Parts: sequence; C-alpha cells; structure tokens
Amino acid sequence: MLRRLSPIQPDSFEFTPANLDWARAQMTKYPEGRQQSAVIPILWRAQEQEGWLTRPAMEYVADLLGMAYMRVLEVATFYFMFQLYPVGSVANIQICGTTTCMICGAEDLIRVCREKISPAPHTLSDDGRFSWEEVECLGACANAPMAQIGKDFYEDLTAEKLAELIDAMVAGQVPRPGPQDGRFSSEAKTGQNALTNLLPPVEAANASVTLALEIGDTLKRIDGTEVPILTPWLGKTERAEVAREEKIIVADTAAAAAEALAEGRKPEGLAAPRDGRPDDLKEINGVGPKLEQLLHQLGVYHFDQIAGWASDEIAWVDANLEGFHGRVTRDEWVRQAQQFVRERKGTAN
Ligand code: FES
Repeated sequence: MLRRLSPIQPDSFEFTPANLDWARAQMTKYPEGRQQSAVIPILWRAQEQEGWLTRPAMEYVADLLGMAYMRVLEVATFYFMFQLYPVGSVANIQICGTTTCMICGAEDLIRVCREKISPAPHTLSDDGRFSWEEVECLGACANAPMAQIGKDFYEDLTAEKLAELIDAMVAGQVPRPGPQDGRFSSEAKTGQNALTNLLPPVEAANASVTLALEIGDTLKRIDGTEVPILTPWLGKTERAEVAREEKIIVADTAAAAAEALAEGRKPEGLAAPRDGRPDDLKEINGVGPKLEQLLHQLGVYHFDQIAGWASDEIAWVDANLEGFHGRVTRDEWVRQAQQFVRERKGTAN
C-alpha cells in the first residue's frame, strides 16, 4: 500500500515545552551516540500533539535526533501507526482490509465509512471529527472483520455494529472495545470447546478490554494533563550497584552470625548422673543407644539438661555429634525433653 505525505502541510512544528522535556528524556534511555533509537516514541509523541505526523514534525524530530530526514521518513511511512494525512479530531477509523477480514466482510465496513464519514479514505468528515482508512492485517484475524479505532481494537464487526459504534462516538461516547458479538476473546464462534472448566463469567471482559477500560484513553490523545514520566531509568545502574553492595553486606553479616552460631557453645555437662540414676535418653524420639552414649560422654544424662539448651548450645551439639550432625534440631530434642520434664513434674505433683 502506498503511503505518501499529505500535499497540504503546515509551515512549522515545535514540541510544547513539556513534550520536548519528555522527548529529551527518552533520548537518555540509549547509550551515547545511539539517540536515534528513540525515533519511534518521539514521532508518536509528535503525532499525539498534532493529531497527525506532518513533514515539519518529521524534520524537527530528525534534527532533534541528528538523523537524515530520509531516515525518519522511512520509519514514518513504514508503520501504519503514523498518520501522514490529517485525521478526524475525534477518531480515525482503521479498517483492516487484509484477506481474513476481507472474506469476513471488511468491504461492508468500508462502505459504512464511506457513507458515514467521507467517500474517500484520508479525508475528513464534513465536521472534521472523523476520518477513515484501510490498513493491512492488524493481527486480530481470529476476530475478523475488525477495526482499530484510536488506541484499541473493535472486533467481530458487522456493518450495523460499526454504524452503531460511529453513532456512539458522534454522540461523545467511547464504546467498549474488543469483540462486538458477545465473544469473550477469540474462542470458537460456537462457544469455548476446550478448557471448559475455565469458562469466564458471562459478563467478564478479556484482559485487553479490561485494561483498555481502566486506562480509558481509547480516543484520547496526550494533551499535557498526564503525569510526566521523564527519566525513572536514570541512576538505575547506580541504585542497583548500591543495592547489590547492601545485599552483600547483609549476606556477609548473616553468614558471620550463622558461623558464630554454628560454632556455638558447648553445654555444661555433669561429671556423673545425679544420684547415679541417669534418665533413659532413648525415650527421646531419634535417640538410640549410640547417641545416648555420645551424650553421656558430653556429661548429658537428664532430660532437664537438654530441655534447657539455648540456641547456641543446640548449634554446638548439632555440629559436634560425630556421625549425627543436625539431629537435635531435626528431631526436636529440646521440645521432646521439655515435654518429659513437664510430664514428670505433673506426676510428682
Ligand atoms: S486480516 Fe484483519 S486482522 Fe488479520
């Protein structure tokens, strides 16, 4: 499809101060010498400001980015998102005319545009509020025929439905985007026949429609009332470096604490069991004869000794029971020993 510049052009173009700040900020996203990479978002901003992309606007953007005019023209003429002719102040309706949409009724949609807006594409309606054009596949073929109006898709259209949408916009409304025949998204026309246990609620809108409704800028152009988002990425590398260093310090501190805890403190032992009568430590779940023998070698003979171990003592025993590392924690010896102590007290009372 041929994409030519409009023969009627304004004399000049200049960004508003806010848009110029925004454009300069976009340029900082890229490494030094690669500022031309910002050409698409900056052209888009120019289009949002003017409604369409004029030749002076392209030259202004080329000068801003240090590009040859031809390079910017190549970009602007390649993408359908850039309007090379004046468009309606309310909406420019882009009808997909590629194979699937054509088979499913795109010609009927174009007829509606001719009747309701203007007989020829790229021409304003009498009141200057609407325009239309035919575009190549917009990637919503499963919902053919479709149109992009403003920033959103209107799918599963019929001539009648498109006429209703245009009437609604004439009346100042912003019709709900997405499928217009009651479909949720692009499931079979006869209804969803896979993953039927995940059927959406009847009134639900798909994610794209939900987002479009939340943002609410289907037809709205950038008009300076937006919260300026300038350079949130600047300083990100430095901030990431500081965060990384802080993380390392925290990790080192935690490792040092863990190491100190691992070294732990040897629990104080008894030279011999009280009254010569040790408790049967094998009653602790996980303690067998071998472990009991090791505990005796450490001077541990009674449940109340184990019940009173602090965390550094547990760490020491866990680390020093040769062949049984970690058993105190794993089998909760302290909790079990405390239970035995409580039971004995209860019996004694
Ligand atoms: S053919 Fe129309 S969206 Fe693909």
